[in-house]
Amino acid sequence: MGAHGGRVSLLWRCVVRRSVLVTGATSGVGLGVALRLAGAGFDVFATARDEPKAEKLRAVAAECAVGLRTVLLDVADADSCRRACAEVAEATDGGPWALVNNAGVPLVGAVEDLEDAAVRQLLEVNVVGAARMARLVLPGMRERGEGRIVNVSSLAGRITAPGMGWYCAGKAALGALNDALRMEAGPGGVRVAVVEAGAYASAIQGRAADGLAALTGRQTLFGDMYRVAEAALRESGTRLPSAEPVVSAVCRALVARRPRHRYVVGRQAKAGLLADALVPVRVKDHFKRVAMGAPAHPLVEYAARRWCTPW
Ligand SMILES: NC(=O)c1ccc[n+]([C@@H]2O[C@H](COP(=O)([O-])OP(=O)(O)OC[C@H]3O[C@@H](n4cnc5c(N)ncnc54)[C@H](OP(=O)(O)O)[C@@H]3O)[C@@H](O)[C@H]2O)c1
Repeated sequence: MGAHGGRVSLLWRCVVRRSVLVTGATSGVGLGVALRLAGAGFDVFATARDEPKAEKLRAVAAECAVGLRTVLLDVADADSCRRACAEVAEATDGGPWALVNNAGVPLVGAVEDLEDAAVRQLLEVNVVGAARMARLVLPGMRERGEGRIVNVSSLAGRITAPGMGWYCAGKAALGALNDALRMEAGPGGVRVAVVEAGAYASAIQGRAADGLAALTGRQTLFGDMYRVAEAALRESGTRLPSAEPVVSAVCRALVARRPRHRYVVGRQAKAGLLADALVPVRVKDHFKRVAMGAPAHPLVEYAARRWCTPW
């Protein structure tokens, strides 16, 4: 199964060609999930935003000796979502058995510095697009009396950091929508689960750093924060864990007979949630500010930037 393969459990082998629609499958977790599921015998519809990316995705799948189908999808575009879901419905006789809402974009910058257009684009992709995709596949799932929706969220949906306000708000919104969907669709046989990951290495850090570089050139009160954050993001690929545990968590949410409601992935995420519950707000705020670039005693700077950065 190649680099993105991994073990295929006996249970997976028993799953008979269930179809799964994975959004944002050109890199990172989406790519890993698409390849892992395809290798395990699922009928995978992996989405890419344009044909060259779809072609590359098919080539990677071929290299890993797995078969999957690609679908063009921009989750921020309602027509594209409708077209993609209609295509999958036609190929699967009514729609996918499961949807993995994985597509996501980063947005780093202080609330004061981010323009409406950038914020709207983030919310369109990370929140509205995910809800729209769920809305489009749910009728087919209800008709069959079963289905799964897995939403790929983040620790950022539970813990907010300065310079990350809008990204965190988007993931918090996705978490809330996930919980509502779980209660609304559950009686129809549709299981809904959220995967909340700590930071892992993917293309998203580079995309976030590029966004920050654009902000650094402007007049801002947060220039120091952006410089520290951009440097940390650029070198984070060598420090962060791989996406593999997140891929495994998404797959577990799909294959488990009784999936959990929430999969918190990674030691950083678990420790972060515990610390968030125990540490007083004033102390947390100070450490998070220092982690994101505010000056402090060198020891505090070391500790904050080692353990409190969101990546
Ligand atoms: N990396 C982390 O530390 C981390 C931690 C927690 C949660 N997450 C979440 O995990 C998910 C996957 O991220 P990743 O880390 O694997 O990042 P990634 O490698 O950048 O993958 C993001 C995927 O989303 C796609 N995408 C972006 N905008 C889209 C749109 N408008 N329509 C459809 N697809 C779109 C990208 O396609 P293109 O190639 O066309 O851009 C790419 O395939 C995201 O929801 C992210 O927020 C990431």
